[in-house]
Amino acid sequence: MSILDALKRSNGLPDRYKELSDQEMVAKITAIKAEMGDRLYLPAHHYQKDEVVQFADDTGDSLQLAQLAARNKKAEAIVFCGVHFMAETADILTEEDQTVILPDMRAGCSMADMANIHQTERAWSHLVNLFGDTILPLTYVNSTAAIKGFVGKNGGATVTSSNAVAMVEWGFTQKERILFLPDQHLGQNTAYDLGVPLEAMAVWDPITDTLEYEGEYDAVEVILWKGHCSVHEKFTVQNIAQIRENDPDMNVIVHPECSFDVVERSDFSGSTKMIIETIEEAEAGTKWAIGTEMNLVNRIIQQHPDKKIVSLNPNMCPCLTMNRIDMPHLLWALEEVQSGKKTNQIIVDQETSFYAIKALNRMLDRA
Ligand code: 13P
Ligand code: SF4
Repeated sequence: MSILDALKRSNGLPDRYKELSDQEMVAKITAIKAEMGDRLYLPAHHYQKDEVVQFADDTGDSLQLAQLAARNKKAEAIVFCGVHFMAETADILTEEDQTVILPDMRAGCSMADMANIHQTERAWSHLVNLFGDTILPLTYVNSTAAIKGFVGKNGGATVTSSNAVAMVEWGFTQKERILFLPDQHLGQNTAYDLGVPLEAMAVWDPITDTLEYEGEYDAVEVILWKGHCSVHEKFTVQNIAQIRENDPDMNVIVHPECSFDVVERSDFSGSTKMIIETIEEAEAGTKWAIGTEMNLVNRIIQQHPDKKIVSLNPNMCPCLTMNRIDMPHLLWALEEVQSGKKTNQIIVDQETSFYAIKALNRMLDRA
Protein backbone atom coordinates (compact mmCIF):
# COMPACT_ATOMS: atom_id res chain seq x y z
CA MET A 1 0.00 0.00 0.00
CA SER A 2 1.49 3.38 -1.02
CA ILE A 3 1.57 6.36 1.35
CA LEU A 4 -1.20 8.03 -0.65
CA ASP A 5 -3.45 4.99 -0.32
CA ALA A 6 -2.65 4.76 3.36
CA LEU A 7 -3.43 8.43 3.95
CA LYS A 8 -6.86 7.97 2.39
CA ARG A 9 -7.66 5.30 4.98
CA SER A 10 -8.68 6.13 8.50
CA ASN A 11 -5.93 5.04 10.83
CA GLY A 12 -8.59 3.47 13.01
CA LEU A 13 -7.34 4.92 16.30
CA PRO A 14 -10.33 4.95 18.66
CA ASP A 15 -11.17 8.39 20.07
CA ARG A 16 -10.62 7.31 23.66
CA TYR A 17 -6.83 7.25 23.08
CA LYS A 18 -6.87 10.93 22.12
CA GLU A 19 -8.37 11.85 25.47
CA LEU A 20 -5.72 10.24 27.68
CA SER A 21 -3.00 12.32 29.35
CA ASP A 22 0.67 11.51 28.74
CA GLN A 23 1.01 10.21 32.32
CA GLU A 24 -1.93 7.84 31.84
CA MET A 25 -0.46 6.50 28.61
CA VAL A 26 3.00 6.06 30.13
CA ALA A 27 1.50 4.12 33.03
CA LYS A 28 -0.59 1.86 30.78
CA ILE A 29 2.25 1.12 28.34
CA THR A 30 4.65 0.39 31.20
CA ALA A 31 2.11 -1.98 32.78
CA ILE A 32 1.49 -3.90 29.55
CA LYS A 33 5.22 -4.26 28.91
CA ALA A 34 5.77 -5.56 32.44
CA GLU A 35 2.90 -8.02 32.16
CA MET A 36 3.86 -9.37 28.74
CA GLY A 37 7.62 -9.57 29.36
CA ASP A 38 9.47 -11.54 26.64
CA ARG A 39 6.23 -12.32 24.82
CA LEU A 40 6.37 -8.77 23.49
CA TYR A 41 9.26 -7.14 21.59
CA LEU A 42 9.37 -3.45 20.82
CA PRO A 43 12.15 -2.34 18.44
CA ALA A 44 12.38 1.33 17.40
CA HIS A 45 14.27 3.06 14.60
CA HIS A 46 16.51 5.99 15.57
CA TYR A 47 14.12 8.39 13.79
CA GLN A 48 11.24 7.62 16.15
CA LYS A 49 9.97 10.27 18.56
CA ASP A 50 11.36 10.32 22.13
CA GLU A 51 7.87 9.54 23.47
CA VAL A 52 8.14 6.19 21.64
CA VAL A 53 11.88 5.54 22.04
CA GLN A 54 11.50 5.65 25.85
CA PHE A 55 9.67 2.30 25.67
CA ALA A 56 11.92 0.58 23.10
CA ASP A 57 13.52 -2.75 23.95
CA ASP A 58 16.14 -1.90 21.32
CA THR A 59 16.87 1.03 19.04
CA GLY A 60 18.92 0.76 15.88
CA ASP A 61 19.58 1.59 12.26
CA SER A 62 17.92 -0.47 9.54
CA LEU A 63 20.62 -3.16 9.56
CA GLN A 64 20.59 -3.58 13.33
CA LEU A 65 16.78 -3.75 13.41
CA ALA A 66 16.77 -6.46 10.72
CA GLN A 67 19.43 -8.44 12.63
CA LEU A 68 17.53 -8.09 15.91
CA ALA A 69 14.25 -9.22 14.34
CA ALA A 70 15.95 -12.26 12.80
CA ARG A 71 17.44 -13.24 16.17
CA ASN A 72 14.32 -12.85 18.30
CA LYS A 73 12.65 -16.24 18.65
CA LYS A 74 10.82 -15.56 21.94
CA ALA A 75 8.36 -12.77 21.23
CA GLU A 76 4.82 -13.69 20.19
CA ALA A 77 4.23 -10.11 19.08
CA ILE A 78 6.71 -7.63 17.63
CA VAL A 79 5.29 -4.12 17.79
CA PHE A 80 7.52 -2.37 15.28
CA CYS A 81 8.13 1.32 15.84
CA GLY A 82 9.39 2.41 12.46
CA VAL A 83 7.96 2.46 8.95
CA HIS A 84 6.12 -0.08 6.81
CA PHE A 85 9.11 -1.57 4.93
CA MET A 86 10.91 -2.22 8.24
CA ALA A 87 7.89 -4.07 9.65
CA GLU A 88 7.67 -6.11 6.42
CA THR A 89 11.34 -7.02 6.77
CA ALA A 90 10.71 -8.09 10.37
CA ASP A 91 7.79 -10.25 9.23
CA ILE A 92 9.93 -11.92 6.56
CA LEU A 93 12.75 -12.62 9.02
CA THR A 94 10.65 -13.90 11.93
CA GLU A 95 8.89 -17.24 12.43
CA GLU A 96 5.38 -18.08 11.18
CA ASP A 97 3.90 -17.93 14.68
CA GLN A 98 5.34 -14.48 15.47
CA THR A 99 3.06 -11.52 14.71
CA VAL A 100 4.44 -8.20 13.50
CA ILE A 101 2.32 -5.13 14.22
CA LEU A 102 2.80 -1.59 12.86
CA PRO A 103 1.03 0.79 15.29
CA ASP A 104 -0.13 3.08 12.46
CA MET A 105 -0.55 1.67 8.95
CA ARG A 106 -0.01 5.17 7.54
CA ALA A 107 3.66 5.02 8.58
CA GLY A 108 5.03 4.43 5.08
CA CYS A 109 8.14 5.72 3.32
CA SER A 110 7.97 8.03 0.32
CA MET A 111 11.22 6.61 -1.04
CA ALA A 112 9.96 3.01 -0.90
CA ASP A 113 6.88 4.18 -2.83
CA MET A 114 9.10 5.37 -5.68
CA ALA A 115 9.61 1.82 -6.99
CA ASN A 116 6.66 -0.50 -7.44
CA ILE A 117 6.88 -4.06 -8.72
CA HIS A 118 5.25 -3.29 -12.10
CA GLN A 119 7.69 -0.48 -12.81
CA THR A 120 10.54 -2.75 -11.73
CA GLU A 121 9.51 -5.62 -14.01
CA ARG A 122 9.14 -3.21 -16.95
CA ALA A 123 12.54 -1.68 -16.22
CA TRP A 124 14.15 -5.11 -15.95
CA SER A 125 12.90 -6.35 -19.30
CA HIS A 126 14.05 -3.10 -20.93
CA LEU A 127 17.49 -3.28 -19.29
CA VAL A 128 17.99 -6.98 -20.01
CA ASN A 129 17.22 -6.22 -23.66
CA LEU A 130 19.91 -3.56 -23.63
CA PHE A 131 22.57 -5.26 -21.51
CA GLY A 132 21.76 -8.99 -21.63
CA ASP A 133 22.52 -11.16 -18.61
CA THR A 134 25.09 -8.74 -17.15
CA ILE A 135 23.02 -6.98 -14.45
CA LEU A 136 22.61 -7.78 -10.75
CA PRO A 137 19.73 -6.05 -8.94
CA LEU A 138 20.44 -4.66 -5.47
CA THR A 139 17.79 -2.93 -3.42
CA TYR A 140 18.11 -0.59 -0.48
CA VAL A 141 16.04 -2.07 2.36
CA ASN A 142 13.85 1.04 2.02
CA SER A 143 11.73 -0.80 -0.55
CA THR A 144 8.61 -2.94 -0.59
CA ALA A 145 8.72 -6.68 0.11
CA ALA A 146 7.74 -7.25 -3.53
CA ILE A 147 10.89 -5.46 -4.73
CA LYS A 148 13.01 -7.45 -2.27
CA GLY A 149 11.37 -10.60 -3.65
CA PHE A 150 12.15 -9.54 -7.23
CA VAL A 151 15.77 -8.87 -6.32
CA GLY A 152 16.09 -12.18 -4.45
CA LYS A 153 14.63 -14.09 -7.40
CA ASN A 154 17.19 -12.53 -9.73
CA GLY A 155 20.26 -13.39 -7.64
CA GLY A 156 20.58 -10.01 -5.93
CA ALA A 157 20.56 -8.75 -2.36
CA THR A 158 19.33 -6.01 -0.09
CA VAL A 159 21.65 -3.31 1.25
CA THR A 160 21.43 -0.79 4.05
CA SER A 161 23.24 2.50 4.45
CA SER A 162 25.75 0.81 6.77
CA ASN A 163 26.78 -2.02 4.44
CA ALA A 164 26.12 -0.54 0.99
CA VAL A 165 29.84 -0.37 0.08
CA ALA A 166 30.42 -4.04 0.96
CA MET A 167 27.24 -5.13 -0.83
CA VAL A 168 27.94 -3.21 -4.05
CA GLU A 169 31.50 -4.57 -3.99
CA TRP A 170 30.02 -8.08 -3.66
CA GLY A 171 27.55 -7.31 -6.45
CA PHE A 172 30.42 -6.64 -8.86
CA THR A 173 31.84 -10.10 -8.11
CA GLN A 174 28.53 -11.53 -9.39
CA LYS A 175 27.81 -9.48 -12.52
CA GLU A 176 29.34 -6.68 -14.62
CA ARG A 177 26.59 -4.19 -13.83
CA ILE A 178 24.41 -3.23 -10.87
CA LEU A 179 20.82 -2.01 -10.95
CA PHE A 180 20.46 -0.09 -7.67
CA LEU A 181 16.91 0.51 -6.37
CA PRO A 182 15.25 2.77 -5.28
CA ASP A 183 17.63 5.48 -3.94
CA GLN A 184 19.70 7.09 -6.68
CA HIS A 185 21.74 9.02 -4.12
CA LEU A 186 22.79 6.11 -1.91
CA GLY A 187 23.57 4.18 -5.11
CA GLN A 188 25.62 7.01 -6.59
CA ASN A 189 27.47 7.84 -3.35
CA THR A 190 28.33 4.19 -2.77
CA ALA A 191 29.44 3.38 -6.31
CA TYR A 192 31.58 6.54 -6.40
CA ASP A 193 33.25 5.52 -3.10
CA LEU A 194 34.16 2.24 -4.79
CA GLY A 195 35.80 4.05 -7.69
CA VAL A 196 33.01 3.88 -10.27
CA PRO A 197 33.24 7.17 -12.24
CA LEU A 198 30.11 9.30 -12.55
CA GLU A 199 30.28 8.82 -16.34
CA ALA A 200 29.70 5.08 -15.83
CA MET A 201 26.40 5.68 -13.99
CA ALA A 202 23.09 5.80 -15.84
CA VAL A 203 19.71 6.71 -14.33
CA TRP A 204 16.51 4.73 -14.90
CA ASP A 205 13.38 6.91 -14.86
CA PRO A 206 10.43 4.69 -13.83
CA ILE A 207 7.86 7.33 -14.78
CA THR A 208 8.93 7.66 -18.42
CA ASP A 209 10.49 4.16 -18.68
CA THR A 210 13.70 5.60 -20.07
CA LEU A 211 17.39 5.20 -19.40
CA GLU A 212 19.06 8.58 -18.94
CA TYR A 213 22.60 8.25 -20.28
CA GLU A 214 24.64 10.21 -22.76
CA GLY A 215 27.56 7.90 -23.64
CA GLU A 216 27.96 4.43 -25.17
CA TYR A 217 25.91 1.85 -23.23
CA ASP A 218 28.94 -0.48 -23.01
CA ALA A 219 30.48 1.93 -20.50
CA VAL A 220 27.55 1.71 -18.03
CA GLU A 221 28.48 0.01 -14.74
CA VAL A 222 25.68 1.16 -12.45
CA ILE A 223 22.04 1.90 -13.23
CA LEU A 224 20.51 4.14 -10.56
CA TRP A 225 16.77 4.03 -9.98
CA LYS A 226 15.40 7.58 -9.98
CA GLY A 227 14.10 7.63 -6.41
CA HIS A 228 15.11 9.68 -3.38
CA CYS A 229 14.28 10.46 0.24
CA SER A 230 12.07 13.52 0.55
CA VAL A 231 13.60 14.29 3.95
CA HIS A 232 17.29 14.08 2.98
CA GLU A 233 16.84 15.93 -0.32
CA LYS A 234 16.22 19.04 1.80
CA PHE A 235 19.91 19.29 2.71
CA THR A 236 21.69 21.38 0.11
CA VAL A 237 25.18 22.55 -0.82
CA GLN A 238 23.99 26.05 0.09
CA ASN A 239 23.31 24.82 3.64
CA ILE A 240 26.91 23.56 3.84
CA ALA A 241 28.34 26.78 2.39
CA GLN A 242 26.33 28.82 4.93
CA ILE A 243 27.40 26.67 7.89
CA ARG A 244 31.07 26.89 6.88
CA GLU A 245 30.84 30.65 6.30
CA ASN A 246 29.28 31.17 9.75
CA ASP A 247 31.81 28.92 11.48
CA PRO A 248 34.75 27.31 9.65
CA ASP A 249 35.32 24.94 12.62
CA MET A 250 32.01 23.17 12.06
CA ASN A 251 32.24 19.46 11.09
CA VAL A 252 29.55 18.44 8.62
CA ILE A 253 28.19 14.89 8.87
CA VAL A 254 25.34 13.63 6.68
CA HIS A 255 23.36 10.52 5.85
CA PRO A 256 24.24 8.99 2.43
CA GLU A 257 20.61 9.43 1.30
CA CYS A 258 21.69 13.07 0.73
CA SER A 259 22.64 14.04 -2.82
CA PHE A 260 26.12 13.36 -4.22
CA ASP A 261 27.07 17.06 -4.11
CA VAL A 262 26.08 17.33 -0.45
CA VAL A 263 27.93 14.14 0.54
CA GLU A 264 31.03 15.22 -1.41
CA ARG A 265 31.15 18.58 0.41
CA SER A 266 30.63 17.00 3.86
CA ASP A 267 33.38 15.83 6.18
CA PHE A 268 31.70 12.51 7.01
CA SER A 269 28.75 10.45 5.83
CA GLY A 270 27.16 7.28 7.14
CA SER A 271 24.14 5.49 8.56
CA THR A 272 22.24 6.73 11.60
CA LYS A 273 24.34 4.37 13.74
CA MET A 274 27.56 5.79 12.30
CA ILE A 275 26.36 9.38 12.89
CA ILE A 276 25.47 8.59 16.52
CA GLU A 277 28.80 6.86 17.17
CA THR A 278 30.86 9.60 15.50
CA ILE A 279 29.33 12.27 17.73
CA GLU A 280 29.69 10.04 20.82
CA GLU A 281 33.40 9.60 20.10
CA ALA A 282 34.03 13.27 19.27
CA GLU A 283 35.91 15.45 21.74
CA ALA A 284 34.07 17.88 24.01
CA GLY A 285 33.91 21.35 22.49
CA THR A 286 33.80 20.12 18.89
CA LYS A 287 31.15 21.53 16.56
CA TRP A 288 28.82 19.53 14.33
CA ALA A 289 26.20 20.21 11.67
CA ILE A 290 24.15 17.05 11.10
CA GLY A 291 22.26 16.28 7.90
CA THR A 292 19.62 13.75 8.86
CA GLU A 293 16.12 13.42 10.29
CA MET A 294 15.21 15.89 13.08
CA ASN A 295 13.95 13.53 15.82
CA LEU A 296 17.41 11.97 15.80
CA VAL A 297 19.28 15.28 15.51
CA ASN A 298 17.32 16.74 18.46
CA ARG A 299 18.06 13.62 20.54
CA ILE A 300 21.78 13.85 19.75
CA ILE A 301 21.76 17.55 20.69
CA GLN A 302 20.17 16.76 24.07
CA GLN A 303 22.58 13.89 24.77
CA HIS A 304 25.71 15.94 24.07
CA PRO A 305 25.53 19.29 25.88
CA ASP A 306 29.36 19.37 25.82
CA LYS A 307 29.39 19.77 21.99
CA LYS A 308 27.88 22.40 19.73
CA ILE A 309 25.44 20.54 17.47
CA VAL A 310 22.97 21.97 14.95
CA SER A 311 20.88 20.70 12.06
CA LEU A 312 22.61 21.25 8.72
CA ASN A 313 19.33 22.76 7.49
CA PRO A 314 17.95 25.16 10.13
CA ASN A 315 14.40 24.79 8.72
CA MET A 316 14.29 21.01 8.82
CA CYS A 317 11.31 19.02 10.12
CA PRO A 318 11.05 15.34 11.14
CA CYS A 319 10.18 12.49 8.75
CA LEU A 320 6.38 12.79 8.73
CA THR A 321 5.75 9.09 8.22
CA MET A 322 8.12 8.02 11.03
CA ASN A 323 6.24 10.55 13.17
CA ARG A 324 2.93 8.74 12.65
CA ILE A 325 3.91 6.42 15.46
CA ASP A 326 3.16 8.19 18.72
CA MET A 327 2.12 7.25 22.25
CA PRO A 328 -1.63 6.92 21.51
CA HIS A 329 -0.96 4.57 18.57
CA LEU A 330 1.60 2.60 20.55
CA LEU A 331 -0.78 2.16 23.48
CA TRP A 332 -3.60 1.14 21.13
CA ALA A 333 -1.34 -1.44 19.43
CA LEU A 334 -0.23 -2.84 22.77
CA GLU A 335 -3.77 -3.09 24.19
CA GLU A 336 -4.91 -4.90 21.05
CA VAL A 337 -1.99 -7.33 21.30
CA GLN A 338 -2.64 -7.87 25.01
CA SER A 339 -6.23 -8.79 24.30
CA GLY A 340 -5.17 -11.27 21.60
CA LYS A 341 -6.15 -9.15 18.57
CA LYS A 342 -3.95 -8.70 15.52
CA THR A 343 -4.90 -5.16 14.56
CA ASN A 344 -2.51 -3.61 12.00
CA GLN A 345 -0.68 -6.87 11.45
CA ILE A 346 1.93 -6.79 8.68
CA ILE A 347 1.81 -9.96 6.60
CA VAL A 348 4.09 -10.64 3.66
CA ASP A 349 2.70 -13.46 1.51
CA GLN A 350 4.64 -16.73 1.34
CA GLU A 351 5.83 -16.49 -2.27
CA THR A 352 7.16 -12.96 -1.81
CA SER A 353 8.81 -13.96 1.48
CA PHE A 354 10.42 -17.00 -0.12
CA TYR A 355 12.41 -14.82 -2.53
CA ALA A 356 12.76 -11.74 -0.32
CA ILE A 357 14.46 -13.78 2.38
CA LYS A 358 17.09 -14.84 -0.13
CA ALA A 359 17.88 -11.18 -0.82
CA LEU A 360 17.95 -10.36 2.91
CA ASN A 361 20.06 -13.40 3.82
CA ARG A 362 22.65 -12.61 1.15
CA MET A 363 23.08 -9.32 3.03
CA LEU A 364 22.83 -10.66 6.59
CA ASP A 365 25.37 -13.41 5.82
CA ARG A 366 27.87 -10.69 4.95
CA ALA A 367 26.98 -8.23 7.73
P1 13P B 1 19.56 3.90 8.59
O1 13P B 1 19.04 4.02 9.97
O2 13P B 1 19.76 2.46 8.22
O3 13P B 1 20.78 4.73 8.38
O4 13P B 1 18.42 4.40 7.58
C1 13P B 1 17.86 5.63 7.57
C2 13P B 1 16.50 5.66 7.00
O5 13P B 1 16.15 6.45 6.18
C3 13P B 1 15.48 4.77 7.46
O6 13P B 1 14.33 5.06 6.81
FE1 SF4 C 1 11.71 7.06 4.09
FE2 SF4 C 1 13.31 9.20 4.10
FE3 SF4 C 1 11.51 8.87 6.08
FE4 SF4 C 1 13.67 7.25 5.89
S1 SF4 C 1 13.67 9.43 6.32
S2 SF4 C 1 11.54 6.63 6.29
S3 SF4 C 1 13.91 7.12 3.65
S4 SF4 C 1 11.06 9.20 3.90
